[in-house]
Amino acid sequence: MAHVLILGTGGTIAGTGTDPARAWAYQAAQLGVAQLVAAVPELAAIPLATQQVAQIDSKDMTWSVWQALAQALDAAMQDAAVEAVVITHGTDTLEETACLLHHLHDGRKPIVLTAAMRPATAPDADGPRNLRDAVRLAHTAAGLGLGGVVAVLQGRVWAGIHVRKAHSHALDAFDAGGAAPLAVLDDAGEVLASAGAASWMAAWPRGEGMGWARVSSPKPPRVEVVLSHADADGWWVDAALRQSADDAAAGDPQRHAQVLRGLVVAATGHGTVNAGLEAALQRAAAQGVVVWRSSRVARGGVTPREGDVWPAAGTLTPAQARVALQLRLLAAQV
Ligand code: SIN
Repeated sequence: MAHVLILGTGGTIAGTGTDPARAWAYQAAQLGVAQLVAAVPELAAIPLATQQVAQIDSKDMTWSVWQALAQALDAAMQDAAVEAVVITHGTDTLEETACLLHHLHDGRKPIVLTAAMRPATAPDADGPRNLRDAVRLAHTAAGLGLGGVVAVLQGRVWAGIHVRKAHSHALDAFDAGGAAPLAVLDDAGEVLASAGAASWMAAWPRGEGMGWARVSSPKPPRVEVVLSHADADGWWVDAALRQSADDAAAGDPQRHAQVLRGLVVAATGHGTVNAGLEAALQRAAAQGVVVWRSSRVARGGVTPREGDVWPAAGTLTPAQARVALQLRLLAAQV
């Protein structure tokens, strides 16, 4: 029977605390995904299956958890009984996972990420509503033949490639860096007519289709993020280049895998870089390190322009651009 598969990875949505009056004092990733589903009686009407892929606070996200998620998604895409997938995740690195999945997925089925800002034991827990909305949305999208990666939080549906955490503690913590939500849901989880159902279906992102095997390499290429700020003189970049040269010379395969392959600069404004840092980035590029520019500004990103010395990461956040560059470098290795 066609069903929605819910993959659990942990996060505050699965978090618990002992004192409801101190909602911030809790441990993330305590409840299993089946327990999260059991707490939402409205989901009984939709055929579901659950799978616990990881149980972590997403600040500790790793390449190996992403590999496990990619394997589970690969199997789900091939399983005719799975019509759509929902992923419960921590809010802290949701934007990185969403970006990764957008690049890997071919858009065959809907993948909907969701999360929560309050633990499951909080009086104002947002997880149950978010999970209900995510499952309903995934089910509806599958029925409409839509595929691709989105996130739903606090009644708003965001394209997976644009979504990012924009507030550190408010319930309504996500936006898309200036892009509008694909849809707005009412309290019952229905798409509000004012959001224009026809247009959000048309705007549903399909994914880049790099394939799940793109993350099969046991170690990802090392890509670091460096911030352009007052007095940024490239000290970190030069230190990284020295370490990288030592690792390359060591002859030990473990250390060799650490060699610096890419740098994403979180640039000022529309992609400008402090002259001191820029000189260090040129030294890095001369040693074969790929340099991309993203923006440290919350909205707008860096638009690619003719003649760019350092490629622009478009609307991606610095953390997302790091993931995208890793995937690009992995393709170059094939
Ligand atoms: C996490 O990202 O796993 C913890 C924080 C959260 O989910 O809000």
